[in-house]
Amino acid sequence: MSDARPALDSFLEEDRKFPPPKEFADSAHCADDRLHQAADADIEGYWEAWARELDWFEPWTRVLEWTPPHAKWFVGGKLNVAYNCIDRHLDGARRNKAALIWEGEPGDTRTYTYWDLHREVSKFANVLKSLGVEKGDRVAIYLPMVPEAAIAMLACARVGAPHSVVFGGFSPDSLADRINDAEAKLLITADGGFRRGSVIQLKANADEAVERCPSIEHVVVVRRGAGASQLVGAHMHQGRDLWWHELMEEADAHCPAEPMDAEDLLYILYTSGTTGKPKGVVHSTGGYLTQVYATTKLVFDLKEDDVYWCTADVGWVTGHSYIVYGPLANGATCVMYEGAPDWPDRGRFWQLCEKYGVTIFYTAPTAIRAFMRWGESWVERADLSKLRLLGTVGEPINPEAWMWYHEVIGKERCPIVDTWWQTETGAIMITPLPGFTHTRPGTATHPFPGIRATILDNDGNEARGGYLAITHPWPSMLRTIWGDDERYRRTYWSRWEGRGIYFPGDGAKRDPDGYLWILGRVDDVLNVAGHRIGTAEVESALVSHPEVAEAAVVGKHHEVKGQAIAAFVTLKESAEIHDTLVEDLQDHVRDKIGSIAKPEAVIFTAELPKTRSGKIMRRLLKDIAEGRAVGDTTTLADPAVIHRLKEKYEGEEG
Ligand code: WTA
Repeated sequence: MSDARPALDSFLEEDRKFPPPKEFADSAHCADDRLHQAADADIEGYWEAWARELDWFEPWTRVLEWTPPHAKWFVGGKLNVAYNCIDRHLDGARRNKAALIWEGEPGDTRTYTYWDLHREVSKFANVLKSLGVEKGDRVAIYLPMVPEAAIAMLACARVGAPHSVVFGGFSPDSLADRINDAEAKLLITADGGFRRGSVIQLKANADEAVERCPSIEHVVVVRRGAGASQLVGAHMHQGRDLWWHELMEEADAHCPAEPMDAEDLLYILYTSGTTGKPKGVVHSTGGYLTQVYATTKLVFDLKEDDVYWCTADVGWVTGHSYIVYGPLANGATCVMYEGAPDWPDRGRFWQLCEKYGVTIFYTAPTAIRAFMRWGESWVERADLSKLRLLGTVGEPINPEAWMWYHEVIGKERCPIVDTWWQTETGAIMITPLPGFTHTRPGTATHPFPGIRATILDNDGNEARGGYLAITHPWPSMLRTIWGDDERYRRTYWSRWEGRGIYFPGDGAKRDPDGYLWILGRVDDVLNVAGHRIGTAEVESALVSHPEVAEAAVVGKHHEVKGQAIAAFVTLKESAEIHDTLVEDLQDHVRDKIGSIAKPEAVIFTAELPKTRSGKIMRRLLKDIAEGRAVGDTTTLADPAVIHRLKEKYEGEEG
């Protein structure tokens, strides 16, 4: 039987619209729909024009070869990513331009011009070669947010050795699993890294991991924590471990960039699946760089004199595409910060924006909701007048959080780009173009020119509400899952079997004006009395209540309705808690959406369980709401949160 019901019902209505400010549009790279039209008319020609803005050693013979689900872009072309990010900027004034402005959490700073970066990357590329790393060998990188992270990535790209960056917050076990899956030959780590005033013992973790990693031949150690009182001293294993700074002293600063095939692997990045083993997402060279270059330029409207700051960690795809490869391929000045947003106080990010004159600021909804919870006074202390564009990525942004970002950070002057994409897509896919799109709080708006995205139902028919679907290959798409092509086919290409349509796993709707709304992961969808409700809408309704900073909703079994909604809510610190707050919130959701979405249970909590990249883990909340044993918590940033919540919930229920 075909599924007659819509795949997703939609309730929340939002009709606020923000046209691009005139001065912004007047000088924007793109202020009309010409690129959309060009891409609609000839998608391959359109991407080819972008690829021509990069430097190629040899041209391609075909733009796209598509044998679903495998695509090849710029077939036969040869280029080098590090060359495009550095060498090609050395001829003119950019040579002496700041490429990276870095600040450590304790306040130490370093700035690298493009010329500096060229020297450091070339030297480290020679170090890699001297350690026996050859084209095609995998290198694991487990570093804090220090310049050496970017230098190591670019050096790998220079010699053609795919990197696998593992976020510094991951445990020895997670690191070992990733190293073993990729069979990395070399590990690059640091003796420590700073986070909220303490030192993360990266080397100790790395040592524990490497014990069970037979493929690792050497460990290169950056001296970062040295001198910090809490550091447990790095024990260097003779013959295996080598200090970065010692290797660099002797390294030659001349290292030609290896010509790579457009389809050669640039990196593997592991992303956790909902179940089981992490997936090694494989990214290519030419297509990947083309799309991260194009999106960085247009979505952030990047200009020569911008100071661009993306607050992600290099351990996530956002750090790969929008701290390192996209901005540097554009010759940008990038700010990189090592530590936490609330260290030594909650004004740190805004002080950094003021200090470096940041003009473009890109962060995640989880951070924005934390800033909201902390209150405006931290923001008001800093001069943010240089900011001209704001961005967000990682989760659906609740319209109220968007409005807060717009008013308090952007002073109603800066366009906001809400960018939808994934580790797998490699680059931004759905996004406003800030000089052209009329933005609307809570929606990523429209596909980037050259991206074909739509909403389909179970049977693959166009629908208003349903599954987000990408119907045409795109240059920066993942090429496979490392070592498991079958899982690649199954996970992403089997929902609409045989049609070559990519399934990202997100639910979506189109509003009456044609804007695309991402409603959350389909695995999280609620089903109340036959209505399928995306988590994002109910959560956004809760966040629109003046006392609420953050909310996560899950379905729990209900005799009659199938599921009832349980809401986990974090209040603003200034919130006044009173006896009827639970009822107030229930009524508020009913008024905003309808009684169908009224949460049956409301649980207040100071923290929500989040992954290390800041996404709320609803699966675990569902376990709590349904009174089950809590499932796998290994990907949580702080596993203690879930245990505290469980105790609290059981206390209140019982
Ligand atoms: C979610 C991060 C709504 C979505 C670059 C996606 C978003 C997953 C947005 C990918 C957005 C990311 N609006 N949802 N602007 N951006 N997501 O792999 O569910 O860490 O599938 O990549 O985050 O997360 P990932």
